[in-house]
Amino acid sequence: MALKRKARTKPTSSTETKPKRSLLNLKSRSKPASPTIPSSSDLVKSLNTLPFSTFAERYLPPTDPLLAPQIPSAEISITLHTSHDLSKENLRACFNLIETTSSADYKASSIGWNPREKQKEMLDKDMRYLLLRRDSSSETSTPNVSTPTSSASPPPSSLNTSTILGFLSFMLTYDDPPYADRPVLYIYEVHLSEVLRGKGVGSHLVQVAETVARRIGIEKCMLTVFNRNEGARRLYARLGYHRDGCSPPDREVRGRRIESDYVILGKMVGGSGGEGFR
Ligand SMILES: CC(C)(COP(=O)(O)OP(=O)(O)OC[C@H]1O[C@@H](n2cnc3c(N)ncnc32)[C@H](O)[C@@H]1OP(=O)(O)O)[C@@H](O)C(=O)NCCC(=O)NCCS
Repeated sequence: MALKRKARTKPTSSTETKPKRSLLNLKSRSKPASPTIPSSSDLVKSLNTLPFSTFAERYLPPTDPLLAPQIPSAEISITLHTSHDLSKENLRACFNLIETTSSADYKASSIGWNPREKQKEMLDKDMRYLLLRRDSSSETSTPNVSTPTSSASPPPSSLNTSTILGFLSFMLTYDDPPYADRPVLYIYEVHLSEVLRGKGVGSHLVQVAETVARRIGIEKCMLTVFNRNEGARRLYARLGYHRDGCSPPDREVRGRRIESDYVILGKMVGGSGGEGFR
């Protein structure tokens, strides 16, 4: 899950980036040495306004082996999209997955579950999607992954939607203070149909997003997870994510410690040595 983030444009005045709190467990923020990565303020903007086909060709071309992961008993492939090139049906399938897997967590939190807000966020023009589909060649041969029974499972006649088994959405944006001028890849959602869980697919999707960040030259990935989602928290810890300095602190009320609903996690992915931005 991700909270609505406003920090999509780089702060213009230095006062906006004044350190207020420090990041925890993160390596120091050295500027990328690669001359291909502009030190200018517009990296995120440039990437977000790059024609999508160019973005895909540069950072995750359709032929990339990462998009056809070799995961036992899960014949799947991954495609990269923007919110605007996803069909309504696919967006609906993604939304249904979020609703199925996480609306209870939203409802139990102070944030609450707001379908309209979630759909609006999903349609943000800068949102990118890694869509997970059953590999079409496996549909007639060895259907190791059965069709999910959730509402994300669409009519079998539609190849477009019948194969959506999960997705990861991400946005290129900026970190929070005190590093508000640092470009980050923010993972908004990762959701899989139940039949696919526990097979390494979620880990793979996160690693694909990290690879995109690294290739661009973005040094850090971030995400938000509900505290009560212990499984996902375990997974992110295993993948090297740590509580970020901008994560909300627990509160102390009448001597009782009240845990925040969610935690913001970050990971340095070593993007400074990436292929860079042209
Ligand atoms: C969280 C999720 C994306 C992880 O993907 P995954 O493919 O199941 O995870 P992997 O197989 O790569 O790794 C397994 C780890 O995922 C975690 N996990 C979380 N939910 C899980 C589930 N329902 N089934 C299996 N593993 C789960 C566990 O930590 C597990 O590690 P463990 O076996 O050491 O406990 C996926 O389980 C899912 O879609 N869950 C529901 C939606 C959700 O909670 N999304 C996260 C929002 S921040």
